[in-house]
Amino acid sequence: MAKVTLENIYKSFPNRNNSERAATQSIAKPTEKTSKPKQANRGISVLKAINLEIQDGEFMVLVGPSGCGKSTLLRAIAGLEELTGGNIWVGDRLVNNLPPKERDIAMVFQNYALYPHLNVYDNIAFGLRRTIATEDKEDRSKGVKTKPLPKIVELLENLLRAMTRSLPRKMRYLSKKEREIELRVREAAKLLQIETLLERYPKELSGGQKQRVALGRAIARNPRLFLMDEPLSNLDAKLRAETRSQIVKLQRHLETTTIYVTHDRVEAMTMGDRIAVMNQGQIQQIAPPLEIYDRPANIFVAQFMGSPAMNLIPVRLERGINLIHPQFRLTVSHDWNETLKSYQGQSLLLGIRPEHFEIDSLKKEDNLVIKVEQVEALGNETYIAFNLDKNGPNRDAKYFQAKISPDRLVQPGEEICLSIVQDKIHLFEVETGRAISPDRAI
Ligand SMILES: Nc1ncnc2c1ncn2[C@@H]1O[C@H](COP(=O)(O)OP(=O)(O)O)[C@@H](O)[C@H]1O
Ligand SMILES: [Mg+2]
Repeated sequence: MAKVTLENIYKSFPNRNNSERAATQSIAKPTEKTSKPKQANRGISVLKAINLEIQDGEFMVLVGPSGCGKSTLLRAIAGLEELTGGNIWVGDRLVNNLPPKERDIAMVFQNYALYPHLNVYDNIAFGLRRTIATEDKEDRSKGVKTKPLPKIVELLENLLRAMTRSLPRKMRYLSKKEREIELRVREAAKLLQIETLLERYPKELSGGQKQRVALGRAIARNPRLFLMDEPLSNLDAKLRAETRSQIVKLQRHLETTTIYVTHDRVEAMTMGDRIAVMNQGQIQQIAPPLEIYDRPANIFVAQFMGSPAMNLIPVRLERGINLIHPQFRLTVSHDWNETLKSYQGQSLLLGIRPEHFEIDSLKKEDNLVIKVEQVEALGNETYIAFNLDKNGPNRDAKYFQAKISPDRLVQPGEEICLSIVQDKIHLFEVETGRAISPDRAI
């Protein structure tokens, strides 16, 4: 168990397209002009200035859209990718230049990565055999006294093992090391309730069982850090929800520092002590789940962490705390007085989550009168989609969405009046996308 510190991490991959282009250009006719020869070596920057501190025993979720660099970051921590810049600390050890097996990290992948020719027991034991070998070596290099076995005992052990190899497992000869391995395999199997599967081969397991074996392999090694890369994405919805809570319970029990990568908002919200939201190789915000939801730092986080996404409505700020839109005007609470002074006369984006609209019976100045374009009734909740400012400058504005009670039956084409839950609104700068916070946090 350890605190993990990522310090100013950068990672670029060589730009394959450019080098391919350079290669074809070199055999092209000499009269052809090359357009961007200087860019060939720059590469694709995938991680940019990542700074993240994960506390000892913390469950940190790294969430972001596909392609934003999550797996690359995890692989870099595990030692499977070389860094372009920055430092990775596990506890007080700088691990940048250590090979993966010396980092004391266990990684669980999306595709399980089990060995098809080994049964469950040996799949779990495999990494363990290597870990224990490394631990022995480290102990010896640290000068810890582990009595080396006399040659003759070692020979005898090997002979006994070879002679009993084909017998049922219980009758086989096990060395001290093998007995320790067995203990750890069985303990992990018990935790994950896969004790009955130990003799099976991966092809005889369901997706959920395979995933638990992959977890078992990581747990048995008792590492200082777990890295999990979308471990549930190959499971169906019900199993995903079950395994999700199982992983959380397991992590609380083991108290092993964990970095869990996902693109799934629900996993992010329900699993982590804290969430780091990532986009295009950069961390956008690090905070506990509800803080991310209630106080997103920018438009990206606001829209990514919520489904349906937060509505962003362009408004103009006038006379103190009045937000003006062609179809409504909203006076925000006095908590905003100070902050909004420097934005007078400017355009801002008003952020409203779908659940922060309410159907109102009155047409008031601060209500939106809308025509329902689409209705999605899911049974437990209903979403309506509507357009604003159809004839205004914003003609091709995308749909906005509001969540309403499933008891309220609404038809497409119907005109209804929506009020805004005022103390739940968000405001963002148009240019930077940054959130503007009220004077005191609401
Ligand atoms: N070995 C590689 N060579 C070149 N580009 C890569 C390599 N691995 C990943 N990338 C690129 O880095 C970006 C981030 O990838 P990845 O870390 O897998 O994203 P995520 O896990 O968030 O979906 C992607 O644009 C991907 O194409
Ligand atoms: Mg990935």
